Amino acid sequence: MHAVVITEPGGPDVLRWQEVPDAVAGPGEVLVRVTASAVNRADLLQRQGFYPPPRGASAYPGLECSGVIAALGDGVGGWSVGDEVTALLAGGGYAELVAVPAGQLMPVPRGVPLLDAAGLAEVACTVWSNVVMDAGLSAGDVLLVHGGAGGIGTFAIQAAAALGARVAVTAGSADKLERCRELGADILVNYREQDFVEAVKAATEGRGADVVLDVMGAAYLQRNVDVLATGGRIQVIGMQGGTTGEINLGVLMGKRGQLRATTLRARPASEKAAICARVAAEAWPLVESGAISTVTDRVIPLRDAAEAHRVVEASEHVGKVLLAV
Ligand SMILES: NC(=O)c1ccc[n+]([C@@H]2O[C@H](COP(=O)([O-])OP(=O)(O)OC[C@H]3O[C@@H](n4cnc5c(N)ncnc54)[C@H](OP(=O)(O)O)[C@@H]3O)[C@@H](O)[C@H]2O)c1
Repeated sequence: MHAVVITEPGGPDVLRWQEVPDAVAGPGEVLVRVTASAVNRADLLQRQGFYPPPRGASAYPGLECSGVIAALGDGVGGWSVGDEVTALLAGGGYAELVAVPAGQLMPVPRGVPLLDAAGLAEVACTVWSNVVMDAGLSAGDVLLVHGGAGGIGTFAIQAAAALGARVAVTAGSADKLERCRELGADILVNYREQDFVEAVKAATEGRGADVVLDVMGAAYLQRNVDVLATGGRIQVIGMQGGTTGEINLGVLMGKRGQLRATTLRARPASEKAAICARVAAEAWPLVESGAISTVTDRVIPLRDAAEAHRVVEASEHVGKVLLAV
């Protein structure tokens, strides 16, 4: 098979399309012939040498894919060769073949082209596990999504709106905020020009956000506490603004607030399988009804993954950048 290999830590040019040994499905795994993968920010960090794959995972980048089942490993039931799937991966999606634990496969939601399904698994599992399963977002809550126009953000906006929540977003341009509005956000904050704490409080009669989905980490830590409503929950999933921060615990205690930080990739397979099952059962019906749409910014050939990394690094995209085999 061919795969995108990280030849050494560095910029996008270290990514090379090369012939490598075929992936093989071990016990409990399924071999998927990849139709497309998608770029995640973690892939950029892995390419730079800052985010090594977990033990046992493929050395090639790629945290998700869509494709067709090519073979079943020992002990796999419930799936057949030829089934179309979308998969959550610990790595290895930038390749023609990938082996994945069967519990991390999901059917392709009806109505979604197999190509676009490549960008669904990572955003759906991240948003569902954080916003629904951990933070318990419910109808009438206010969700603040940082980076509303990104891959995670575009899914989170639609999912929250479909669940009856009110959605606030931050983004870096008027165009991106307009896209967020079209997807269902109604409190729009340009983070380059406005203070999101003031803006969200002003739009909610001082109440603030019941749930914050944060990708900025240290840079937004205290302001996320400040914007929180009483009983609110902060879910940190990214560290784009640094890893080490300081918060006023008195403010968090006064609000009886919760602060949690999670990463999907490092979770054990059993937890990933539980998340995939919830996503297929609860989120896919919203995709099939049209309440949540895939947001594909562009499709780039997998062998040109370097170009896709440049696009995402420069934040030129809205939604997902897909990599077609
Ligand atoms: N923990 C996990 O399990 C997990 C899983 C998946 C993803 N993630 C993380 O989630 C984050 C988003 O992932 P993604 O795939 O959606 O990446 P993405 O599409 O590249 O989105 C990144 C977003 O960050 C926004 N951003 C940059 N600076 C900002 C600022 N100062 N304030 C607010 N937003 C800002 C960008 O907004 P503009 O383009 O408008 O500037 C962009 O929308 C990444 O950090 C990724 O590593 C974590």
